[in-house]
Amino acid sequence: MTASPTLREVLRAATIQLDRAGVDAPRNTARLLLAHALGTSKEWVIAHDDELIAPEAHARFLALVQRVVAREPLAYVLGHRPFYDLDLLVDARVLIPRPETEALVDLALVALREVSAAPFACVDVGTGSGAIAIAIAKHAPTARVLATDLSREALHVARANAARYALSERIAFVQADLLAPLAALPPVIVANLPYVARAEIEALPPEIRAHEPRLALDGGEDGLVLVRRLLTQIAQRVREGRGAAWRAAFLEIGAAQGAAALEAARTLLPEAHASMHRDLAGLDRVLVLRRG
Ligand SMILES: C[S@@+](CC[C@H](N)C(=O)[O-])C[C@H]1O[C@@H](n2cnc3c(N)ncnc32)[C@H](O)[C@@H]1O
Repeated sequence: MTASPTLREVLRAATIQLDRAGVDAPRNTARLLLAHALGTSKEWVIAHDDELIAPEAHARFLALVQRVVAREPLAYVLGHRPFYDLDLLVDARVLIPRPETEALVDLALVALREVSAAPFACVDVGTGSGAIAIAIAKHAPTARVLATDLSREALHVARANAARYALSERIAFVQADLLAPLAALPPVIVANLPYVARAEIEALPPEIRAHEPRLALDGGEDGLVLVRRLLTQIAQRVREGRGAAWRAAFLEIGAAQGAAALEAARTLLPEAHASMHRDLAGLDRVLVLRRG
């Protein structure tokens, strides 16, 4: 009978395998997977790497490593992902929330300080895992939030995440096309809609292209089809007198889409002032619309 290997030995072998498969940050990924297999933290793994691994835990670890070698996203394998100050459940039914989307939450929270509204202070369009809606509801403790998504499956995940933070009472999740269920606009609209141009999807890394929901990626021919449809829905409601409470909208876009998004906003919704919010790297990130 051969002795069990140490954590250090299994980590070294997994790091080599992950690196050969083209996985980012292979050493850190191996540590996170080992921590998950052992039901402990990455820090514990680092501090105890001379301990022996039990055969069942080793088998669990090898199975997890194989999933990531096959380029399944790490967040799906671990089953959760940090966003803002939340830890969200994620699986193949939802887009993995990205750090750049946290800017939408910051912008919406500032705008929400200046409004009070019923029945909803804010709508999160295309909520996915519920990331934006839940972060907003957590930090704007009197706000009621409506969250829509076309995907019934995504809404199951979003509802589970809201329940984890005891926010189910203040967030209404509705399966709908964009703003369809809203008769009148709320004061604040946030949306991280799919914005990848269809022809560019096949060039994305396999973790995204082969695993994240197509409905969460595909932004139509130039990536801005849904953004334009949302702007049109806002404009319709404003013109029909159903936008009296509306003050601001924050729409995430791709870094190369700034000029086209601004042009679309100025054409489709001249009633609002349109500008671009850039991230710390100076990249166009959020189309901002404000009512005069
Ligand atoms: C890019 S993901 C963003 C998810 C989440 N808001 C986030 O930031 O992590 C876009 C989401 O929009 C949803 N979606 C796509 N088309 C939609 C539509 N016409 N109406 C509502 N939601 C839509 C997708 O199902 C997906 O959950």
